[in-house]
Amino acid sequence: MTAIEGKTVWITGASSGIGEALARRLAEHNNFVIISSRGKESLSEVQKAAPTRIRLLSCDVSDDEGMDRVGAELAELTDHLDMVVACAGTCEYDDGLRLDSASYRRVFDANFFGAINTLRQALPLLARSKAPVFAAVGSLSSVVGFPRAEAYGASKAALGYFLDAVRADLSRTCLKVVHIRPGFIDTPLTERNDFEMPFLMTPEEAAECIERGLLRGKSTIDFPWRLSWPLRFFGFFRSLWFRFSAPRMTRIRSLAARQ
Ligand SMILES: NC(=O)c1ccc[n+]([C@@H]2O[C@H](COP(=O)([O-])OP(=O)(O)OC[C@H]3O[C@@H](n4cnc5c(N)ncnc54)[C@H](OP(=O)(O)O)[C@@H]3O)[C@@H](O)[C@H]2O)c1
Repeated sequence: MTAIEGKTVWITGASSGIGEALARRLAEHNNFVIISSRGKESLSEVQKAAPTRIRLLSCDVSDDEGMDRVGAELAELTDHLDMVVACAGTCEYDDGLRLDSASYRRVFDANFFGAINTLRQALPLLARSKAPVFAAVGSLSSVVGFPRAEAYGASKAALGYFLDAVRADLSRTCLKVVHIRPGFIDTPLTERNDFEMPFLMTPEEAAECIERGLLRGKSTIDFPWRLSWPLRFFGFFRSLWFRFSAPRMTRIRSLAARQ
């Protein structure tokens, strides 16, 4: 099989970037795709690509109670889900290591608790599929500690552990849990990055990598390999990372004058 076809899929964070590209790709391949994000207008734009195969379900994945209501709406749209891709996410850098806990909470609310809320609503419908898949979009940034990425990287590392634990808990069931870890993708999220992003990919290329990884039944989908291999090397030899790479990247020169 060269494409995912004929599945019912729910994608969060599908109004732009990676989620949008994946939604368009899967709808093109005759899947029934339910797309979510907070903004309705941008979702409607995505739906225009395939009005009969794309349905909208706007929601804030970080809103615990709101998501319980969304579960009921989801069940009105479909009686089952074959695949869920929890892609909604955000990024805030901790410039100057200000340790602003409100910022950390916002990032965790979307990236970590958002995935939990998504899985909670999806599980009853995934249980009605013969080969259900729950995939969540983490990040290669969680492989090693990046300067300024304390909140973002930690939220994605926490997501990775959560997925592993769910995989262990459900290891005697048919649910497949997939951790997707992209490198740098050219999306609204990375538009404000003021540093060089090696091996930057388009959202369409990212969507292709995700679909290919899902088709191959991978549990972890890392891309691009030119970034994931060196990062995994440094993840293994961590002292090299902190000795040679981190000092070149950090913008903090002294504890007294953090900026
Ligand atoms: N771009 C990269 O280089 C990169 C690399 C690694 C991992 N990722 C991850 O990939 C995922 C998608 O990012 P992207 O780059 O495609 O960014 P993006 O274009 O900014 O997309 C983010 C999506 O998430 C939605 N969203 C954000 N907060 C939400 C919330 N609380 N509830 C519901 N939807 C929410 C946004 O729509 P609304 O704002 O309308 O809600 C949007 O649809 C994120 O999890 C990100 O961390 C990105």
